[in-house]
Amino acid sequence: MATQIKVFDTTLRDGEQSPGCSMNLQEKIEMAKQLERLGVDVIEAGFAVASPEDFESVRTIAETVKNCTVASLARAVKGDIERAYEAVKVAAKPRIHTFIATSDIHMQYKLKMTPDEVVDRVTEMVSYAKSLCDDVEFSAEDASRSNREFLVRVFNAAITSGATVLNIPDTVGYATPDEMYELVSYIKSHIITPEKVDLSVHCHNDLGLGVACTLASIKAGATQVECTVNGIGERAGNASLEEIVMNLHTRSDLYNSYTNIDTKQIYRSSKLLSTITGVPIPPNKPIIGANAFAHESGIHQHGVLNNPTTYEIMSPESIGIPQNKMVLGKHSGKHAFEDRLVTLGYTLTPEEIAEAFTRFKDLADKKKTVTDRDIEALVGNAHIDVPQSIIYLNYHVQTGNTISAVAAVKLSIDGEEKESSAMGGGPIDACFKAIDSLADSRLTLDNYTIQSVTEGEDALGEVIVKMKRDDGSIVTGRGLSTDIIEASIKAYLSALNKG
Ligand code: KIV
Ligand code: ZN
Repeated sequence: MATQIKVFDTTLRDGEQSPGCSMNLQEKIEMAKQLERLGVDVIEAGFAVASPEDFESVRTIAETVKNCTVASLARAVKGDIERAYEAVKVAAKPRIHTFIATSDIHMQYKLKMTPDEVVDRVTEMVSYAKSLCDDVEFSAEDASRSNREFLVRVFNAAITSGATVLNIPDTVGYATPDEMYELVSYIKSHIITPEKVDLSVHCHNDLGLGVACTLASIKAGATQVECTVNGIGERAGNASLEEIVMNLHTRSDLYNSYTNIDTKQIYRSSKLLSTITGVPIPPNKPIIGANAFAHESGIHQHGVLNNPTTYEIMSPESIGIPQNKMVLGKHSGKHAFEDRLVTLGYTLTPEEIAEAFTRFKDLADKKKTVTDRDIEALVGNAHIDVPQSIIYLNYHVQTGNTISAVAAVKLSIDGEEKESSAMGGGPIDACFKAIDSLADSRLTLDNYTIQSVTEGEDALGEVIVKMKRDDGSIVTGRGLSTDIIEASIKAYLSALNKG
C-alpha cells in the first residue's frame, strides 16, 4: 500500500529568514493562504519569540489557516516554547516545533553543554511543550553530523516526553543521499516506538543534494519532509517543495508514496513567492523555471509535436502552468475576464475583481492580446493590501546619449497633487530622483531588475526594486507596464508605499 508523505512547509520560517526573502505581515498571510490551497500538511509560520512582528504573523496565520497544522519554531527553552504556544494556540491544528543541537561541534562550541545536559533539556522541554500542546515536533539540529547512538538516546528521550514527530535535519547540507538513507534507517530501527511517531527530514542544499537526500530518506522510511517553495532558505536554501513533490508524483513506480499536494497549484505558489520576495526563478530551475518545458532543438520540437511524452516526463498542465487556451483583448467583457481568473485558480473578492478588470482594460488598450501570463502578472500579488498614500499620475522624460536625462513626475501624495523634475544618469534614475524630491522617504535603492512577462514587441515589462531601510531591512516593490519607465516608477512607488 502506498504511504502518505506529509509535507511540512517552512517557506515562512527557514525560507523567510534567508537574505532578500523577508516578507511583511500581509505578504506572509497571502503566502500562507496559497500554501493551504497547495495542500501542504504543516505550515511552519515563523519563529514566534524572534520579534513582536514574528509573533504577530504566526498568530495571524494560525487564526487564518483552517486545513493545515500551523507550527512555530522554538528553541528548547521555556520562554520560546511559551511564546510559540501563545502564537499557535488559536490554530485549528497547532504544533510546537522545538529543537536543540546534538552534534559534538554544536554542543561544545555553541551550546556549551555536555551530552547528558542536552538529553535532560530535551526531556524537560519536550514534556513542557507537551503539557501545552498535543502535537510536539522535536528536531535534533545538525543530526547528520551527530553521533548515532547519542541521537537515538536523544530521540528516545523526546518520545518518552511526548513528541509526535522526530525531525532529522541535515542542517549544513553535508550528508549524501546514501548517508541520509542509512541514518534514517538506523534511527527507525533503534528508537523505542517508531510506529508511534512521524520521522521527518529537513535537508539543506549546500552541496546541491537537498532534494536527493530527502528522497533517499523517504526510501528509508521518513514520513514527513520539510521543504520550501522555490527551495529558498538559509545559505544555498532548503530542499525545494516542488522538486520533491514532482519526483514522488512522476516516479510513483519507485517511491510507492503520495502527498496531499494539489500539483496544479505549484506554479502559482512559486510565482506568488517570487513576486512577493522579488527573488527571480532561474530559467533552468527544475519544474518551475521558464525553460523547464521549453523545447529549443528542432529534433525535440518535432518529437513533442508528435507526442509530448517523447521529451516531457510531466506535463506543464500538471503543475498549473497557464496554457493560453483563450486569449483576451480589449473587447473582452468582465464575465470573460472573471471566468479566466477562476480557470487560473484565483478567488478574488468582487472589489478585487473590479480593480483587476480596470488594470486589464488599461493593458488591453496597449497590447493586442492579453494572455494568461499577462493576467497572472496583473493579478499577481496586487490584492495584497498596502495603503497607497503615494499614487502615480504621469511622467515625461527627455533623454538621449548626448544630453542629460531630465524627468518630470506627477504624483498624488495623501490626496494632494505634486509635480517635480530632476536630472539623472538616465531616464529611470531621473524619475527616481524626481520622486525622491516629492516623497519624504528614508529608503535607498539597493537593487533593480527588469524582465518581460511575455514575448513580443508589446510585452509587459516587470520591474522589481529592492530598497533598504535605515535598519538594513529590505522592502520590495513591483511595477508592471508595457512601458519600462512607467513600470520602474510603479515599482519604486510600490516600495515607498510599503515604507
Ligand atoms: O536546519 C535546521 O536544522 C533547522 C532546524 C531548526 C529544524 O532549521
Ligand atoms: Zn533549516
